[in-house]
Amino acid sequence: MGQSVPPGLRRALRETGPIGSTTRQLSARLSQPEPELAVLLERLAEHGQVIRIGRGLWLLADYAELDRRGDFRDPREYVERFSREHGIDLGSYPGPITFSDNTDLPVHRWWPYVQGYSAEFVSDVFDREGLAAGSTVLDPFAGSGTTLVEARRAGHRAVGYELMPPAALAARVKIHFETDPKRLAEMGGRILRSARRRRPGSPPFLRETARQFLPDVLARLTQLRDALPPGNSPVHEATRLAFGRTLIPVSRLRRSPCLGYGRSDADEFRDPWQEFAGAVSEISEDLRALGKARSSWGPPGRVFECDARRIDLPPGSVDLAVTSPPYVNGMDYVNNYKLDLAWLGYARSYSDLRRLREAMVACDNLGRTVVRPHLATDDVEDTWLREILQQIRNNVDRKRSYRRDDAHGVVKRYFLDLRPVLTAVYRALRPGGRFRLVVGDSLLAGTYVPGDLLTARLGADVGFRIASVDVARRRWSGQRRSFPLRETIVTLERSRSAG
Ligand SMILES: C[S@@+](CC[C@H](N)C(=O)[O-])C[C@H]1O[C@@H](n2cnc3c(N)ncnc32)[C@H](O)[C@@H]1O
Repeated sequence: MGQSVPPGLRRALRETGPIGSTTRQLSARLSQPEPELAVLLERLAEHGQVIRIGRGLWLLADYAELDRRGDFRDPREYVERFSREHGIDLGSYPGPITFSDNTDLPVHRWWPYVQGYSAEFVSDVFDREGLAAGSTVLDPFAGSGTTLVEARRAGHRAVGYELMPPAALAARVKIHFETDPKRLAEMGGRILRSARRRRPGSPPFLRETARQFLPDVLARLTQLRDALPPGNSPVHEATRLAFGRTLIPVSRLRRSPCLGYGRSDADEFRDPWQEFAGAVSEISEDLRALGKARSSWGPPGRVFECDARRIDLPPGSVDLAVTSPPYVNGMDYVNNYKLDLAWLGYARSYSDLRRLREAMVACDNLGRTVVRPHLATDDVEDTWLREILQQIRNNVDRKRSYRRDDAHGVVKRYFLDLRPVLTAVYRALRPGGRFRLVVGDSLLAGTYVPGDLLTARLGADVGFRIASVDVARRRWSGQRRSFPLRETIVTLERSRSAG
């Protein structure tokens, strides 16, 4: 008789699903001594009930069998099918694309945004496109403005859409090259003097605030926040950005890329006032340097803090679009930037956070009621997507142990969200204009989802020609550490004849 997993342990292992938990995490979760649990887990592993992956992560055996299943379609199959159906083989892109490459670069460093791509990637794209000075560049998911900053620096008009307010703030501040560094430095000094004179204010609504900061740090942060000027002039916004950028470095959290605890220096006092002063002087310094190249700047850019599905630019007004959309089953941006949202006053309650999440491109944390209208699979036109959604649903039904039983609905909504953006960009592009997207694939509920190839197909469906699909780098699945995923540059082109 094989040994079965005790109910408490089964529940705990289900919570982390294919990501797995360490013995220490399970011991804390179950209040059971670690050595005892380690022996039990080894025994269960011998009976094939649990599996150990990567660096000592345990998962239920249900989660591990994936590529042994007959119905599992792996990345290669999709690549071959894509080549057959679209006549395009995957190429490779040799340049660097991750945001870590931006962390020390002037302007880009003002608000390190881990979900971004590199400035070098963007300028490389401009070079390849041979863009004439004064062209209009659009980024429908502008994030903290990497594309827009590079566009303006290269002499182009930058237009961006970004729904998450702190990211839109960062993008606005970063493309306003005209901000006077002297005035900003003076304003920063005034804010600090005012903060010192104030009493500590009330913390934001987030339940975890007291855990996130040491008490002295928290007090100083509230003083600093309450001293920020309320206006929306570019200098005011720049000080707000400097404050927002101070939050994570002085907290017990880190963003790598998801927000979480586990910093080795968590209990060290880091002074928010000093951090803020440093941020202001860094921004001022970069503005001074930028000012020297004033003659080569593009015209003032524009960031619309609104939904990319509602892009409403004059037809044919954009020469090039470059972006990186959220990935299928990817980052919950609202959760990841909840500190910035709460401390900067963009969200005043958990309902505000939920509403923002629901307005954004679908992520894995979307509420069940929002996903409910998207549970049917037979009305999906794209044959690939229909098969994939059905496979996800079958796997979930079969195992009943995935994190959410409506995962296929989340994926369906994701592609429903993406479609109007592609359509709107198509309309806004001039004939022959290109749309370059950096997209990832995913593994979820035991199903491989070629997000990049599906995006290319969607592009073709709204009228684009698929010009190329180039793999830029490998990355590893969060669900199964040993499963290689990729990040790809999909290039779509609007036909040269108008219409
Ligand atoms: C991968 S990030 C873009 C990063 C950007 N390329 C950069 O380098 O900074 C995707 C962005 O899409 C934004 N987003 C999600 N849904 C959106 C929507 N419906 N409209 C506009 N922006 C949205 C997210 O807030 C996030 O900043």
